[in-house]
Amino acid sequence: MAMRGYSLCVFLITAIVVSQLDSSWAIQCYNCTSPFTSAESCLMNPTTQTSSQSNCTECFTSINTDGTFTRGCLDSGTPCALPSCMSCNGEHCNTNRVCQQCLGSEDCATTSVNATKYSAVCSNDSQVCVNQVNDNQTVTRQCGNACASGLDASKCSSCTASLCNGGYFPESRRQCYTCSGEGCDTAAESMIGGCTQIDAKCFTTGTSATNMTRGCTSNTTGITCAANSTDPSCLICDSNSCNSLQYERDAGSCMVCDNCPATPEADKKKSCGQALYNQTTGCYTVTTGSTVNRGCLNNLVGECSVTNSCTSCSETDCNVGAVDIAFQCIACISNEVSDCWSAKDPNSLPVVDCASGTCFSGVWNGLGVRDCFSSASQLMQYQCNANLEAHQCTLCTTPTKCNNKAFNAAASLNQMGLIGLLTALVIALRSTL
Ligand SMILES: *[C@@H]1O[C@H](CO)[C@@H](O)[C@H](O)[C@H]1NC(C)=O
Ligand SMILES: *[C@@H]1O[C@H](CO)[C@@H](O)[C@H](O)[C@H]1NC(C)=O
Ligand SMILES: *[C@@H]1O[C@H](CO)[C@@H](O)[C@H](O)[C@H]1NC(C)=O
Ligand SMILES: *[C@@H]1O[C@H](CO)[C@@H](O)[C@H](O)[C@H]1NC(C)=O
Ligand SMILES: *[C@@H]1O[C@H](CO)[C@@H](O)[C@H](O)[C@H]1NC(C)=O
Ligand SMILES: *[C@@H]1O[C@H](CO)[C@@H](O)[C@H](O)[C@H]1NC(C)=O
Ligand SMILES: *[C@@H]1O[C@H](CO)[C@@H](O)[C@H](O)[C@H]1NC(C)=O
Ligand SMILES: *[C@@H]1O[C@H](CO)[C@@H](O)[C@H](O)[C@H]1NC(C)=O
Repeated sequence: MAMRGYSLCVFLITAIVVSQLDSSWAIQCYNCTSPFTSAESCLMNPTTQTSSQSNCTECFTSINTDGTFTRGCLDSGTPCALPSCMSCNGEHCNTNRVCQQCLGSEDCATTSVNATKYSAVCSNDSQVCVNQVNDNQTVTRQCGNACASGLDASKCSSCTASLCNGGYFPESRRQCYTCSGEGCDTAAESMIGGCTQIDAKCFTTGTSATNMTRGCTSNTTGITCAANSTDPSCLICDSNSCNSLQYERDAGSCMVCDNCPATPEADKKKSCGQALYNQTTGCYTVTTGSTVNRGCLNNLVGECSVTNSCTSCSETDCNVGAVDIAFQCIACISNEVSDCWSAKDPNSLPVVDCASGTCFSGVWNGLGVRDCFSSASQLMQYQCNANLEAHQCTLCTTPTKCNNKAFNAAASLNQMGLIGLLTALVIALRSTL
């Protein structure tokens, strides 16, 4: 009787002790699940989750193969499930953060690694998500500890929120459109990729709208253009996503004329047609002496620069501005310059600058003479002003080379017999200079 009472007593005590032990071992875990998106509070903010599960001995945080994110109580004897799971032992211990993880692979540098496949549950003792550039210029992203002090933010950066280490690293990494072949003529947002070298440039090359290639100069596989390429088919540019020009594009319109007046006439506006990706669009003005040529940059042979007295502008029809051209007169004598008499091709005749702004043309002793009026002798000036018909003298004041009218042939004398007179005339002309 006494034994039975004792046994019962031991049993009861044991039961009490065990039940107390049991309840002291049991922990509560955060218990929530969410689709794997960064906005969900189960992932970002577990402590705001009210649901918690009792009687656990271990808690877990996991990313399932179907991309579901879960926190909960790990059934005893059940291993933490792959692909990414961390378990812990403590009251509400499963607050693990999730970081993007990739270790030196090319995509770790060249993409923003925002896809779920990069996500990894961190152990409880990792404090932050870390991105760093390795010595071999590859990038590593992982759960870890804060960057060593003194490291530049472009070499190592860390952050505390789940998924905070997505995006290109470093942020300043050069990004270019990357594509080739069909569909590469029109650059789309989805084609933007980071370059393996942070300071690479972007390139565009190709032979037709269906055979374009775009990418980073740091890429060395397939068709590429190096940053220092001199290949004219390689268009290199130096800012993010700058390599978007289509194979051909409308080149707008410009004033197009040779030997244009200082102010171009409105009817000289012409279409520039199509420009290739490696051609500049815009308009130019070339001013050499008093000759002004205007046109489309994509049709200009060679560069437009100060060395060839060329100025350019990038808007459509932008080369309309008047240019300052010297006031010039044709300056010739018909026995020295064969076309001086009839001036059939006035642009090929010699010219002089004429500050006084008045040119003349006239006939003396059977010779056609053209020059700046201030270079004529007193007598010739008098004869011109008196409008003596024999000299057919005409004055003109419009820029440029206005003294270009043909002389009346009837007034011509035998030029070869007049050497003496010619000499006198030349002396008279030169003496006034
Ligand atoms: C914990 O989550 C599971 C599903 O993962 C669910 O069946 C269960 O009811 C949850 N428990 C609590 C206390 O919310
Ligand atoms: C949790 O503990 C309660 C009493 O503390 C018990 O009734 C229940 O069966 C236990 N549940 C599990 C899953 O162990
Ligand atoms: C570069 O270094 C990182 C870290 O040391 C390493 O994980 C990676 O495999 C290396 N990659 C190459 C191509 O050497
Ligand atoms: C990737 O994630 C980073 C950090 O969360 C964000 O700044 C960036 O915009 C994301 N990029 C894309 C393409 O979703
Ligand atoms: C496509 O372009 C590349 C150069 O960018 C050239 O080598 C190749 O011959 C072109 N293919 C065709 C079909 O024109
Ligand atoms: C490099 O170029 C190849 C071929 O054009 C392309 O398939 C690859 O995606 C490029 N790599 C990067 C990192 O842009
Ligand atoms: C481009 O640079 C590389 C090394 O940076 C050099 O080997 C190559 O000769 C250069 N090419 C040209 C065309 O300058
Ligand atoms: C543009 O590229 C083509 C080859 O695709 C080349 O023949 C041409 O000279 C280039 N034009 C310029 C302005 O560089």
